[in-house]
Amino acid sequence: NWNLEDFITQKIEELRKELSGKKVIAALSGGVDSSVACVLVHRAIGTNLRCVFVDHGLLRKNEPEEVMDVFKNMLQLNVVKIDARERFLSKLKGVDDPEKKRKIIGEEFIRVFEQEAKSYGATHLVQGTIYSDVIESAKSGKKTAAIKSHHNVGGLPEKMDLKIVEPLRNLFKDEVRIVGEMLGIPRSVIHRQPFPGPGLAVRVIGPVDEEKLDILREADYILIETLRETGWYEKIWQAFAVLLPVRSVGVRGDRRAYDYVLAIRCVDSVEGMTADWSKIPHDVLDLISRRILNGVKGVGRVVYDISSKPPATIEWE
Ligand code: XMP
Repeated sequence: NWNLEDFITQKIEELRKELSGKKVIAALSGGVDSSVACVLVHRAIGTNLRCVFVDHGLLRKNEPEEVMDVFKNMLQLNVVKIDARERFLSKLKGVDDPEKKRKIIGEEFIRVFEQEAKSYGATHLVQGTIYSDVIESAKSGKKTAAIKSHHNVGGLPEKMDLKIVEPLRNLFKDEVRIVGEMLGIPRSVIHRQPFPGPGLAVRVIGPVDEEKLDILREADYILIETLRETGWYEKIWQAFAVLLPVRSVGVRGDRRAYDYVLAIRCVDSVEGMTADWSKIPHDVLDLISRRILNGVKGVGRVVYDISSKPPATIEWE
């Protein structure tokens, strides 16, 4: 039985030995794993760890501000935000194939990050790999083709000439959360639902543009706030909105409206491999729907996704 206090002390000591005097870089997404990895390495070597937070324009409402507020202002990490919104959005223009979107975003991410690593003169790269990732990648070597080519920062090292540092390699997710709490990372980060690397690009079905992203961001924000308010956010494994490329007729006042259909996706799952749609009470769904229809211009109809995985996947793309 593994004492996590000791783990933290020993790991910091180990990291200090390995990395003191070195320049170290990390891609910080604001997700649980990368956050805990960064804070742990920061404890060991301080500002010699530079965390790079890439704003690719596909993040949720307030997300860049919240991440910078927690990691820069509150936890005092050396973190830079790269505003790469235009780069990503111009590359994605007119692209509707989900795998192409993932490929473009993955490659562009590497390019942005590579520039940062070079200009900082980094020799080491921190990654938030945890035990289940180690198992997964061992399996996927032999497995049949993946359904979706998951892009996250795990794709970084092969193309870069940096030594990899993976302080969480031996931990399970629940242990990572406990370590994060012990390191003083706020609950909002530790209990964050997973968010895909390609972000909202795979939640705007079809080609992505700024107008659609704005509609989706507002709707998603209302969904998440309402789930928090009603106590459902932490009971659900993942909840999000999806903007469909379908418009539907409605009435606004006494006029005909013709606006987008928005799908709400909420699932219960353990590791994301299988999932059940969440049995959220009707009154909560009602509140979500009313708030979105009243508050988000461009959405004319809200539907709830009642598909489990398999055969449906969690994301729509
Ligand atoms: P699916 O849609 O495959 O999703 O049932 C399972 C889990 O993986 C997340 N997901 C991704 N994560 N890059 C990521 O980092 C991706 O391209 C990607 N696609 C799906 C999804 O949000 C869910 O948690």
